[in-house]
Amino acid sequence: EDDEMLEQRPPVVTVMGHVDHGKTRLLDAIRNADVGKGEAGGITQHIGAYQVHKEHEGVDRPITFIDTPGHEAFTAMRARGAKVTDIAILVVAADDGVMPQTIEALNHAQAADVPIVVAVNKIDADGANPAKVRQQLTEYNLIAEEYGGETMFVDVSAKQGQNIDSLLEAVLLTADAALDLRANPDKDARGVAIEANLDRGRGAVATVLVQSGTLRVGDAIVTGQAYGRVRAMLDEHGENVQEAGPSRPVLVTGLASVPRAGDTFIVAPDDRTARQIAEKREA
Ligand code: GTP
Ligand code: NA
Ligand code: MG
Repeated sequence: EDDEMLEQRPPVVTVMGHVDHGKTRLLDAIRNADVGKGEAGGITQHIGAYQVHKEHEGVDRPITFIDTPGHEAFTAMRARGAKVTDIAILVVAADDGVMPQTIEALNHAQAADVPIVVAVNKIDADGANPAKVRQQLTEYNLIAEEYGGETMFVDVSAKQGQNIDSLLEAVLLTADAALDLRANPDKDARGVAIEANLDRGRGAVATVLVQSGTLRVGDAIVTGQAYGRVRAMLDEHGENVQEAGPSRPVLVTGLASVPRAGDTFIVAPDDRTARQIAEKREA
């Protein structure tokens, strides 16, 4: 792709880790800490992914979080060949330490060549030992910067909302150091369906992550074997949006059927072509 057409895009982050180490609570804390979320707005919408804003060196930097159960989503999407994650946050509870699914999660991320930021969580809890977590993870090639390695570790308490800002900072520093995240916004959108379901009132509803180009209301899209014209798009605040550029997750209505998580989507020239592509895939 022509290099001049590429613009910086936000990192897309997945949170992974052992059961009960605080993935869900951390995602909630990050969302609640977002200064960009504003006051008013509609009913907060569960859309399976959200974007927060972090000021970094005087610049507003959005970060996209995939909000579906990290591990499953990550592996399901990878199995379909979709790569959605730029950075993995590995959550390790400081009172529990490294556990089997911690290792599984880091193996997945390392196999996919996805850089890891370690969130050492529950530092407020009795028996929290964040130094031990750092020591344990050296065995898996995750060596903290303060020990001469390249991995950023941030001690957090999702429960108390402590150090969330430092964690976001670590994500941006890791993205800027390890990745070249750019995409061309000036073309038809391409991306991935993150999750989808059948809604009683709205029909098939899919959360899609735009990976390149810009998706617009009215675009004819095909995702897996589902097709349709984008009727409406909602963001994580339940607000209607008319367009969505690279790294933006949006809830899309207007599909004739429900795609699967991990199905990639493309924009077709018109509805008829979209349907033909989908039918060809079905055959
Ligand atoms: P699964 O999705 O079931 O794998 O769990 P999870 O990793 O999403 O953990 P979750 O966020 O549900 O948290 C598990 C438990 O740990 C809950 O009781 C949380 O309240 C608690 N917890 C999460 N973060 C913290 C923390 O920072 N400090 C303390 N003390 N408890 C926490
Ligand atoms: Na839990
Ligand atoms: Mg959870």
